[in-house]
Amino acid sequence: MSPIYQATASAPVNIACIKYWGKRDTKLILPTNSSLSVTLDQDHLRSTTTSRADPSFEKDRLWLNGKEEEIKDGGRMSTCIKEMKRLRKQEVEDKNPAEPKLSSFSVHISSFNNFPTAAGLASSASGFAALVSSLAQLYQLPVSPSTLSLIARQGSGSACRSLYGGFVAWEMGSAVDGSDSLAIEVAPQSHWPDIHALICVVSDDKKGTSSTSGMQRTVETSPLLQHRINHVVPQRMKDISTAILARDFDSFARLTMADSNQFHAVALDTEPPIFYMNDVSRSIISLIVEYNRLSLAAGGGYKAAYTYDAGPNAVIYAPKENIKEIIQLIVSYFPQQKDSFKDNFNLFSADVTSQAKL
Ligand code: ADP
Ligand code: DP6
Ligand code: CO
Repeated sequence: MSPIYQATASAPVNIACIKYWGKRDTKLILPTNSSLSVTLDQDHLRSTTTSRADPSFEKDRLWLNGKEEEIKDGGRMSTCIKEMKRLRKQEVEDKNPAEPKLSSFSVHISSFNNFPTAAGLASSASGFAALVSSLAQLYQLPVSPSTLSLIARQGSGSACRSLYGGFVAWEMGSAVDGSDSLAIEVAPQSHWPDIHALICVVSDDKKGTSSTSGMQRTVETSPLLQHRINHVVPQRMKDISTAILARDFDSFARLTMADSNQFHAVALDTEPPIFYMNDVSRSIISLIVEYNRLSLAAGGGYKAAYTYDAGPNAVIYAPKENIKEIIQLIVSYFPQQKDSFKDNFNLFSADVTSQAKL
């Protein structure tokens, strides 16, 4: 019997506090600004990907959530697979000619997300991180997360940050070949274990404008984006790293909410405008603002921070001790009525993960 070459890996999502929105190079996926995120645990939000190489396969094929997706020549998926095969040849087969020539076989890849795909909960991040991780395992590559981060970035920018747990920055870099545009760990989860995330799934519909096409339109048309990337994000990156290192939740919360607001302002400043949040998203913002206001008025600090990616679903970061109260608040202000939440309004409470499981 011929041997079976197959491997499975999972990867977590990450939700940005300082948002990536804009590319300076669309092919290599080089961003117009650095970004910073928190990687969540895999209980509720993960991609699990199985890759198999076989000499009988005629071409590379991909199934996402059970449905076959086309792998376009020269597209992102094809770039990631090609890069991983190149590494297999360079790092394994050329060094040890006895190793099977897996780099010359086609692969069949099957991936499942256990949360809504393309709904603004970073499925492209966990998806491409799981893809490169499963191929790295299949090909038995002796490579670091930072090398995998460079390759995952070329699948989806945000994916480069899902190769690490804890608090992760994607340094935009300056090299034209993208060799310094990768993720680095700012602090491990154990540095600030008190931070928790609450994910409010307002809608699991596929978004109308994908992140890729939305940000491209913003780059082409938004004057506000130029102000953001030149005059706002560089200082915010420094300030949020300082806040994380000092475990300063007040600063972390202020910066996270301000950056979510500015990202959505930039989407609105796009021609034609892009709306990712809906009425329920905005009501959740009002609730968190009021919750913080009452605490500040009583001499306390910030209690929670909301952030929204390119979709209507809220992620709320808060110290663990506040999570129960926040769930009670949300459930009482948003009883799960069909007309406001559809059938699928759901709350997931997630820890920050200590490491991306490879
Ligand atoms: P999201 O907000 O969910 O990241 P995007 O618009 O950025 O939405 O990306 C969604 C796209 O990412 C999907 O249409 C699909 O092409 C890709 N994707 C999502 N999940 C996976 C996965 N598990 N494996 C491979 N690609 C995936
Ligand atoms: C709003 O990484 O999904 O979630 O690189 O085109 O695949 P592509 O885009 P993607 O964009 C993510 C945008 C964001 C902010 C963020 O995750 O930093
Ligand atoms: Co995405």
